[in-house]
Amino acid sequence: MRAVVLHEVGGPENLRVENVPDPVPMPGEVVVRLRAAALNHRDVWIRKGQYAGIVLPAILGSDGAGEVIAGDAAWLGRDVAINASIDWGDDPRCFGNKFRILGMPDAGTYAECIKIPSAQVHPKPGSWTWHEAAALPLAGLTAYRAVVTRAQVQAGESVVVTGIGGGVSQFAMQIAKARGARVFVTSGSDDKIARAVQLGATAGVNYKSDGWVKQLASLTGGGPEVIIDSVGGPTMNSAVELCRPGGRIVTYGATTGTTQNLEVRRVFWKQLSLLGTTMGTPGEFAEMLALYTSAGLRPVVDRVFPLAEAAAAHRHMEQAGQFGKIVLSDS
Ligand SMILES: NC(=O)c1ccc[n+]([C@@H]2O[C@H](COP(=O)([O-])OP(=O)(O)OC[C@H]3O[C@@H](n4cnc5c(N)ncnc54)[C@H](OP(=O)(O)O)[C@@H]3O)[C@@H](O)[C@H]2O)c1
Repeated sequence: MRAVVLHEVGGPENLRVENVPDPVPMPGEVVVRLRAAALNHRDVWIRKGQYAGIVLPAILGSDGAGEVIAGDAAWLGRDVAINASIDWGDDPRCFGNKFRILGMPDAGTYAECIKIPSAQVHPKPGSWTWHEAAALPLAGLTAYRAVVTRAQVQAGESVVVTGIGGGVSQFAMQIAKARGARVFVTSGSDDKIARAVQLGATAGVNYKSDGWVKQLASLTGGGPEVIIDSVGGPTMNSAVELCRPGGRIVTYGATTGTTQNLEVRRVFWKQLSLLGTTMGTPGEFAEMLALYTSAGLRPVVDRVFPLAEAAAAHRHMEQAGQFGKIVLSDS
């Protein structure tokens, strides 16, 4: 089969299409003929060498959807989406020591086929396109645990989601809206803010403008109850400043790096809860998928690149060009 293989960390040009052996399933596994894969920022971190425990060569890609063509008879012939959160373990509060995310070291979804434990596949929502089904899993799961399990967002609360162009951010907005919250967003692009408002956000501010924290404090009537953030860096102190006393800040990423000099005095004086989250349990994945189908939500697909153009797709993500998920597909 054809796959995009990374032999050396570096620029996007290091993502090269090669012929590799077809996967052969072991008992309890399936082989999925992939019709679409989706990018996550994790793929960019690994490709650049900025991720822990990199093992090369690697086939990147955590998200995928396709047809089961071999392995576990119960799944043969079925259309599925893949849950990238593998071997979470017994404790719903945090994963155990066997936990891993699909796509390095396990061979990932930038390929024509993948072999995966059958516990990781779920029926593809019937009316969804392959592109939509591949777009949802990793980012949808991360957003679901952030908004539902960790922040426990309630109807009527105001929620700020930072960097709304991002894949996870858009799912967080959709899930918070589905729970009856008012959602405010930030973005480096006025156009993306306008598109988020079209999708149901109440309002947004451009984080490149002076005074964006004050603007959001005013729009939310004194700060939101909840902030969902993946930007990290200086934005975390802005979140601590903005959040309403007694509020919750959920962090799942650090796109701009770690936060220097966290304003801990503000955290304790304002009685804030700072909540970390990563991926989610098998139960949360099933709940997330059920919410998406029962509430009629659909992932926002930004652009589709052929598998052979994975490098161009990575450049697009690095430039924060996207609004929603970037997909690789030859279908
Ligand atoms: N812990 C987990 O389980 C988990 C899961 C998924 C992702 N992550 C992490 O979460 C982050 C986002 O992942 P993703 O896949 O959703 O990435 P993505 O689709 O590439 O989105 C990144 C977004 O971050 C925003 N951004 C960049 N610089 C910013 C700044 N200075 N201020 C505010 N926003 C800024 C941009 O939003 P605009 O385009 O709107 O400006 C950009 O679109 C990554 O760091 C990733 O590693 C963690």
